[in-house]
Amino acid sequence: MGGVPFVGVVALLSFAVVISSPLGSLTEPDYSKTARSADVMVGQAHFDDVQRLIRSAGLTSTVTIENVQKVLDKDFNERRREKRSVQPDVTNTYLKHNEINDFLARVQSTATAADVTMGSLGQSFEGRDTQYVTITQKTAGGTKRDKYLIVIDAGIHAREWIAPAMALNIINKLAFNPDNDTDVAEMLEKFDWVVAPSINPDGYEYSHESRYTRLWRKTRTTKHHSYCRGVDPNRNFGFDWNPAVGGSSDPCSDIYAGPRAFSEPETENVRQWLTNMRNRAKLYLTLHAYGQYMLYPYGSDENRRREDEDLLVEVANAFANVLNSKGRRYSVGNSAGLLYPAAGGADDYAKGELGISLSYTPELAPGADDPKVQTDWRVGFMLPKRKIKSVADDTWEGLKAMARRVFDEYDNATDDDDVSSRSDWDGWDDIFDEWNDDAFGDD
Ligand SMILES: *[C@@H]1O[C@H](CO)[C@@H](O)[C@H](O)[C@H]1NC(C)=O
Ligand SMILES: *[C@@H]1O[C@H](CO)[C@@H](O)[C@H](O)[C@H]1NC(C)=O
Repeated sequence: MGGVPFVGVVALLSFAVVISSPLGSLTEPDYSKTARSADVMVGQAHFDDVQRLIRSAGLTSTVTIENVQKVLDKDFNERRREKRSVQPDVTNTYLKHNEINDFLARVQSTATAADVTMGSLGQSFEGRDTQYVTITQKTAGGTKRDKYLIVIDAGIHAREWIAPAMALNIINKLAFNPDNDTDVAEMLEKFDWVVAPSINPDGYEYSHESRYTRLWRKTRTTKHHSYCRGVDPNRNFGFDWNPAVGGSSDPCSDIYAGPRAFSEPETENVRQWLTNMRNRAKLYLTLHAYGQYMLYPYGSDENRRREDEDLLVEVANAFANVLNSKGRRYSVGNSAGLLYPAAGGADDYAKGELGISLSYTPELAPGADDPKVQTDWRVGFMLPKRKIKSVADDTWEGLKAMARRVFDEYDNATDDDDVSSRSDWDGWDDIFDEWNDDAFGDD
């Protein structure tokens, strides 16, 4: 291998690693642990060196895209030509930032299947308003009983467009029930849903901007370096924050963890938002792409104690089983164990610091060796917009199974300290409903 100096970008699933040291660093982290394929993007000048390295590590490789820029050019040109409707359809369009906020406002004023209120997490570095919606069961007047929350965010990594699209589709399904799905009422009966579809709006908007920016991952802050912009927000959360664990201290790196935890307004916004909901939130999903993994904490250290690991796995399997039955193979696991350690993630913070036990990072489509999406695998982050609907529909089925499992867990709890405690005797339900009103009233 002999330490050939090399600067390039290696994209492993949705985790990008910049190699600025000798090529030998490709073996660190140990990619063989995943026993699955990884996508690696290299500059033309380094192609031969990387091929040699792969062979010397005893791995095999295939060239899936000869020229990534060509794919990006084609993708960009198609988008530039497309006629944009005033109210783009979330089932077949990747919305831009303003369209997302317009959509959320429209949902708030016209939802038919639920009550929806819009709120703000705050502003991004470039001043974009970061909105979320709270979706609750329709009431015919009177006061609403606060329920436990399912909290979903998306778009922390700018280029993972299917993640915000999925979040918008969840909102669409709950608010309008376009498929006349009888389960929607049940989902709103069991939980209140809080969804923030695009929490890194500067990065997201930048990834729409040109044919050269589509693969942007980070925020767009300018304060950390003279010309390299942004921080990897999913290395910037303040639980076990450590640039040396799956991140970087180099501001030019795609996985720059920032100068300190919560250096970014975007992560600080999410922190406040989650903190306010910590007592009611029973399930937190921070949506990413791609690779089809259901990952659970702790990303910082696979051996960190998790008393509830069995439950974490069970709830994740409820999701994965449904997706598997639809031909989308998902792997369930601890992110540090299944992939490699990465500190400073939102899911670790939610669980470790805020005590939201069931906290996950779903890596959405496309999957690695999944026959149904094999052809999409080649495109990775550039999942064609015509695929949005089937991904959203299949994933929604999995989320429903997950929600039911979570509901059973907390609704049947018999621990006296738990405000949701229910006795086996049905007659207690009304009494406990009132009790719940009081217990939840101050959140
Ligand atoms: C749902 O029901 C409405 C009203 O009955 C109907 O107009 C619509 O076509 C149905 N949608 C689907 C997807 O079945
Ligand atoms: C919780 O209760 C429901 C129905 O009341 C039942 O179907 C489910 O199996 C129970 N779950 C657990 C974990 O006991």
